[in-house]
Amino acid sequence: MTQPDMLRLLRDPNLIPPEKQNLLSDLAAQAASLGFSCYLVGGFVRDLLLRRPVKDLDFVVEGDAIKLGRMLVKKFGGKLTPHKKFHTAVWRLPSTFNLHPSFLDLITARKETYAYPGALPTVTPSTIENDLRRRDFTINALAVRLDGDRFGELLDPLNGQGDLEEGIVRVLHPRSFIDDPTRILRALRYEGRYSFDLDSLTSDLINSEALAILSQLSGERLRHELDLIFEEDQFARILLRAGKFGLLKSIHPKMPEFNQDYAGFLEMDNRLDVSADRRVMGYMLWFMNLSEEDVFSISSRLGFTNELTLSVWAAAQLKRSLPHLAGSKPSVWTYALEKLPLLSIYAVYLVSRENALLDYISMWRHVKPHTTGNDLLKRKLTPGPRFGDILSRLRAAWLDGEVQSLAQEKKLLERLLEERGAT
Ligand code: CTP
Repeated sequence: MTQPDMLRLLRDPNLIPPEKQNLLSDLAAQAASLGFSCYLVGGFVRDLLLRRPVKDLDFVVEGDAIKLGRMLVKKFGGKLTPHKKFHTAVWRLPSTFNLHPSFLDLITARKETYAYPGALPTVTPSTIENDLRRRDFTINALAVRLDGDRFGELLDPLNGQGDLEEGIVRVLHPRSFIDDPTRILRALRYEGRYSFDLDSLTSDLINSEALAILSQLSGERLRHELDLIFEEDQFARILLRAGKFGLLKSIHPKMPEFNQDYAGFLEMDNRLDVSADRRVMGYMLWFMNLSEEDVFSISSRLGFTNELTLSVWAAAQLKRSLPHLAGSKPSVWTYALEKLPLLSIYAVYLVSRENALLDYISMWRHVKPHTTGNDLLKRKLTPGPRFGDILSRLRAAWLDGEVQSLAQEKKLLERLLEERGAT
């Protein structure tokens, strides 16, 4: 791509909002005044070349990013959090910039080495060329220069542009997945997102050696990758591919294959705002058929929060109880469902189409008797478990159609109080 072509992309407001373009000019000018060359790299360049709106600004300087950050804060304001060990800094942008996200990572171009396979990398400042060569795939090993006259110059030492045009995800060297097996999941994520293909050598590198290292990774790192997959439109396809390559069983031997139908369940949902909870829904659907023991074991392997574990466990538990609950009265369903997270109930509804679950979500859970605890106090009833018993009995009567009016409820209340010798 020529410099003028790149300039057109960099100035396209549909790809980069004008506020971000201004920020880039400011960054470039300040970096140049320190004598640093600076670049946009990685996903930013990849998406720009694909004519997709860019997300984060992946910004790299050949020079001291922390020094640059201090200068930016002095000139524009905001706040800097330096990370000396990594030669990086996070600049919280001044609110006047009105930008989202409101943080910018300032990164020093670097080399990375891995103390052992799968370790987090050790970083040393280096050139942009080396910085590109430490990356995962050719399509991410791209940079656009920002400072001075070279604004808009594309750096593409590994023919990332060619692979983008052909739709190929290709590692930079044969040890890439050994160094960092999370890249296997990243490769499948790009493949699914852009409908690309893995280059055949890259695909061969997803072998038993790489999978053995993947199986040693921390739950947190793996879950982070799986969470990112759930953000993709093509998450089902990506997870299916992960299963085919044996990744899921390497993460945990009991991890089931993902089922394409689950994607459909999420798409057709329009009753709850599941887009915000797609990840939780996804995990619930995925692990719902597992035994209690396996749910806990996989949740612990993936470092799920207690809340997520509870949601998955509740969905699995409910799914197992469905045959026993089928045909029960509404009050029995309500009693059984009341303590479970709503989203777990909804997930089980999606796979079972048990109408009682939907009735519970849309109606039964809201049913309450008119009588309150206060009313019982007024009737000189001493607070205690009997309070709860009477109120749930009244609620059950409403749920099951035994009472249908306030008068009927009052009549039942009188009877219950009499039965209990409380008047
Ligand atoms: N990277 C890498 N190896 C990893 C993770 C990241 O080499 N295991 C590099 C890639 O060059 C990537 C960059 O770091 O482009 C930034 O990573 P990230 O923000 O995760 O990815 P993006 O490229 O921004 O892609 P996405 O659209 O998925 O966020």
